[in-house]
Amino acid sequence: MQTYLALLRVHVSAGVIGSLTILAFWISTVMSELSGNHVAVVAVKNGILWGMLVLIPAMVTVAGTGFRLAGKAKSALVCSKKRRMPIIGLNAILVLAPCAFFLANRASAGQFDTMFYVVQAIELIAGGTNLTLMGLNFRDGLTLSRWLKGSGLRPA
Ligand code: HEM
Repeated sequence: MQTYLALLRVHVSAGVIGSLTILAFWISTVMSELSGNHVAVVAVKNGILWGMLVLIPAMVTVAGTGFRLAGKAKSALVCSKKRRMPIIGLNAILVLAPCAFFLANRASAGQFDTMFYVVQAIELIAGGTNLTLMGLNFRDGLTLSRWLKGSGLRPA
């Protein structure tokens, strides 16, 4: 049980770090674009690439610990959380990471053309989607924990 609770602590911490990192990427992107300052946009784009060094381990950790905590559980909440995780991961690998590299390259080259803004819009939508899915996993995690504690299946 000690190991389980330690795993849960790691799971929640990684979930919080991952969610806050994506939120920071999203807000700093919108703020820099609205400022119209290309120097700020370049700084944010490069910052996001470095930030991925925090985000990727956090997401791998939240997924790994989540699946271990869930074990063979088949409740609706666990199944919903399990179903969302591959969507979050694929969205990050196939859409968000390529967009981040493309945008950082274009911004550093001073190429703020139509293509830049199309990809920027795609990145914001994909980032918003992942934030929403992570928020839903967070909410379901809290409900699940309350239920597990209430039913005496695990100590508080
Ligand atoms: C972005 C992804 C995720 C986030 C942000 C997240 C967040 C959370 C949070 C906040 C809790 C509540 C912990 C507490 O009240 O102490 C939780 C619990 C839990 N999560 Fe996740 N989670 C994520 C992904 C997953 C995945 C993919 C699984 C696998 C099915 C999972 C399985 C669980 C389980 C089983 C619990 C309940 C553990 C317990 O209370 O005994 N989570 N999660």
